[in-house]
Amino acid sequence: MHILLMGPPGAGKGTQAERLVEEFQVPHISTGDMFRAAVKEGSPLGKQAKEYMDAGQLVPDAVTIGIVKEGLAKPECKKGFILDGFPRTLEQASALDEALNELGITLKRVININVPANELLARITGRRICRKCGSTYHVMFKLPSSEGVCDKCGAELYQRDDDKEATVKKRLDVYAAQTEPLISYYKTKGLYAQIDGLQNIDKVFADIVANLRGE
Ligand code: AP5
Ligand code: MG
Ligand code: ZN
Repeated sequence: MHILLMGPPGAGKGTQAERLVEEFQVPHISTGDMFRAAVKEGSPLGKQAKEYMDAGQLVPDAVTIGIVKEGLAKPECKKGFILDGFPRTLEQASALDEALNELGITLKRVININVPANELLARITGRRICRKCGSTYHVMFKLPSSEGVCDKCGAELYQRDDDKEATVKKRLDVYAAQTEPLISYYKTKGLYAQIDGLQNIDKVFADIVANLRGE
């Protein structure tokens, strides 16, 4: 089950990936999470990535493609993965094709979680994330049982540095200019499926699973 999860910033890729990895028992590969982990470690990669992320820009392709290739080569990716937030440019998409080809992996589906731009800002500015395990919450749509504390591990919740309104607007522009063209790329390959991301989290999940199981 090798799946790409696409969608604009705040569409619900991470939220759905969290559930899909449980459902299908495959690893979650999120380039955003990888960059945030590098920032936390203070590694050279993290320092470089942070500048782009805080500006709402994409990290350069050469860097991003390199770290994804390393991730994909791990043995646990043989039986499947949920790739979240990669590819985001046509150059990344063709590098992914090449890497998967070398690994003998065939993509099953590209799922695009479709949410109109006016809803995305509310989703992103209300998002809270666990410092320790990365679980995602929302101040209105997905409340933890105790305010500011993760249900899964008890650690503190925080707001991402790039979730400020001005940065979010830039991220949305970058998505429209650089990532949206990938929709026709994957339509042409016959892999594309669009899911209505305006529904509640459970219904979006049910629609994705139904699509993947071919119901
Ligand atoms: P990344 O971390 O991937 O950010 P993104 O694509 O902007 O997407 P988000 O993580 O913001 O949103 P999401 O779709 O995961 O939504 P979520 O599930 O959290 O990338 C960050 C940065 O890293 C980029 O800007 C770039 O700089 C760099 N980067 C990453 N990948 C790169 C690449 N390939 N190339 C170059 N640079 C790269 O949900 C959002 C909120 O809504 C949550 O609070 C959630 O609880 C809530 N929610 C979710 N679903 C619903 C629903 N159905 N109804 C109501 N609320 C919902
Ligand atoms: Mg995410
Ligand atoms: Zn946690």
